[in-house]
Amino acid sequence: MSSHGTHDSKLRVLDAVLRPRSIALIGASNTPGKLGFKLLKNMLADGYTGKIYPINPNDAEIQGLKVYKSVLDVPDEIDAAVIVVPAKLCTQVAEECGKKGVKGLIVITSGFSEIGRKDLEDELVRVARRYGTRVLGPNIVGIMSNSDKLNASFAPFLPYPGKPSLVSQSGALIVAMDAATYLRRVGFDKMISIGNMADLDIADCIEWLDADPNTTCISLYIEGLRNGRRFVDAARRARTPIVAIKAGVSAHGAAAAASHTGSLAGAAKVYEAAFNQAGIVQATDLNGLFDRSLALSLQPPMRGDNLFILTNGGGVGVLATDAAERLGLPLHFAPADLQAELRKHMPEYGSAKNPADLTGMAGKDWYYDCVKAILTHDWVDGLVILYCETSLTVPMDIAQALHKAIQDSGATDKPVAIAFVGGEQSSEALHWLMEKGIPAYEVPDKAVDALAALREHARIRSLVTEILPFPGGRSSDLARETIAAARAGGRGALTEIEAKEVFAAYGLPVARTVLAKSEEAAVRAAGEIGFPVVMKIVSPDILHKSDAGGVKVGIKDAEAAQEAFRTILSNAKAYKADAAIHGVAVQEMAPFGTEVIIGSVDDPSFGPTVMFGLGGIFVEVLKDVTFRVAPVSSTQAERMLTEIQAAPILAGARGEAPRDKDALVQLIMNYSRMILDLESEVAESDANPVFVYEKGKGLKVVDARIILKKT
Ligand code: COA
Repeated sequence: MSSHGTHDSKLRVLDAVLRPRSIALIGASNTPGKLGFKLLKNMLADGYTGKIYPINPNDAEIQGLKVYKSVLDVPDEIDAAVIVVPAKLCTQVAEECGKKGVKGLIVITSGFSEIGRKDLEDELVRVARRYGTRVLGPNIVGIMSNSDKLNASFAPFLPYPGKPSLVSQSGALIVAMDAATYLRRVGFDKMISIGNMADLDIADCIEWLDADPNTTCISLYIEGLRNGRRFVDAARRARTPIVAIKAGVSAHGAAAAASHTGSLAGAAKVYEAAFNQAGIVQATDLNGLFDRSLALSLQPPMRGDNLFILTNGGGVGVLATDAAERLGLPLHFAPADLQAELRKHMPEYGSAKNPADLTGMAGKDWYYDCVKAILTHDWVDGLVILYCETSLTVPMDIAQALHKAIQDSGATDKPVAIAFVGGEQSSEALHWLMEKGIPAYEVPDKAVDALAALREHARIRSLVTEILPFPGGRSSDLARETIAAARAGGRGALTEIEAKEVFAAYGLPVARTVLAKSEEAAVRAAGEIGFPVVMKIVSPDILHKSDAGGVKVGIKDAEAAQEAFRTILSNAKAYKADAAIHGVAVQEMAPFGTEVIIGSVDDPSFGPTVMFGLGGIFVEVLKDVTFRVAPVSSTQAERMLTEIQAAPILAGARGEAPRDKDALVQLIMNYSRMILDLESEVAESDANPVFVYEKGKGLKVVDARIILKKT
């Protein structure tokens, strides 16, 4: 209850910033060409009904409004202050706003952290925080809202009206997309520029937009997140569909990574994983962001995989079929009764299968009857309607018939997207359809992509509900003791034995391993563990044990154990004379199984992140791995197992028994909890290899590595 209350009061504060009832414009100017002039003009242009107070120390009147020398002189309450004075004046202005009780600052001014002046930015936020004032920006274009008739930005006009709302880290992109909305007639209700995100960030905007009745899809342009996990949480809780594009997915600190996992992680894969866990649909380019926003803002999610395609042209039908397969929605033939019904409304030379081809002879009546039959059939989960402009038909007639059929079908829970391929008349018909709430595109692939986005939305939303318990307690204490001992010895990495102790503390099944410091101890340990055993050098200075001749496998008896102890030590000394040697690990020789690797990195945006893949060439050469931000739920862990290309091997390829999936899911979940719990300590880690046995027989972690964070 109380967290709900906090949530509501936080949203009310955001209301004051993002839907202000009164605004002070600080730096309002009478000089055309100045931002303070343009901003006021824009704020007055669209019929905003709130109060506007221009602030300027030197003027009495600007654009017909009375000017105040300071916000402190304004007699009424002020929700938000839009700031367009130079950076060096912003702190003082924030101070006055704080004293006045202004709830939010919309700081358009540049010249802060983006040019290395983080000090100025920190100072601004510090002052604002002292008064409980929230800050949007700095370094932003401003905010725009069609439903509030407010353009508090220096973008030239409000965007074409629409139901999605856009949040963007790039200001220039907002200005460009604003104009593009008119060309595309794909609009937005709100456009929010968040710039440097010194205080309010994307997570705040998601929470606020989710509660906004005028926003039916949240569209995000993301360059980089600081608090990735808060972002994932906010998105996970949102009921409004979210579509995001992540810019800058190339090299991401991967080069400096010390472990396998580190070298395989990259912004693209980690963001993809986080979007998945957050229930966010991804767009890969700007067109995709527009097109997918349109679909998600207008149509219900697609709840099953049965996509139907109706067309009057074979060619576009084939293109759409190809696109469907490419986008993970392969077509299936329609059930016989639906085919029989459709055949009543097409010529003999048509096709009723799927795609259903009404042929170039198709008029509005055939389209109408077929659309109604398709949407009312239980088997169908979503529909793409294609039309090629012909000399026999008028595009607008077809559009109207389609709209009527969709309405008359009463199927409000099944998504529909349309593509008309043709000229100006088709284009007009498409705009008309969009006005009616049907996503409509000029090529078949886009209509299919619209449904793919709606399907993806339904799929990922069904996976984001679980909440996981946090570990801690005894596991934590044991692990921290081991880590503290290593740190006390001045080491930045754990030995294999120590890493296995940590893994075991979190319930990971590690191969039994004992540290032996003498030949006698090695023989004793081997006897206790049971022959055959494996023996390995334990040295913080030798990470690649095999290269150093520091590993012996298949040791069958006491004599061989003695011999191995000696050889391993002399090899190690020959490899690195000054290596500190802790002893030799005597280890249970786990039966050979399917090799997998699980590991972790500390992602700069999302924190502890788990990697999973098959070992050997799959990871070394093919980089066939998948990621999730910790903690990983069981359904997400299951999804990881199916995501890698080598998934069929786990499922039991070429007549082999399927591997123990439950044990793998448990491994991924426990691993993710471990790295989350040890977030402050562990930089990178891996269990490589892990041997996985057939169903019911579990798995064994054979080798373990933990690299500590620098203190
Ligand atoms: N309170 C109110 N107004 C004040 C003031 C104060 N304490 N101190 C100064 N002003 C007035 C100035 O007198 C001036 O008005 P005038 O034209 O009547 O003289 C006005 O505020 C603006 O100040 P000025 O010094 O003329 O600055 P500017 O207009 O040249 O530049 C910015 C100010 C904010 C536009 C500029 O610093 C900037 O950051 N530009 C980049 C903006 C941007 O691109 N943002 C985001 C991109 S994504």
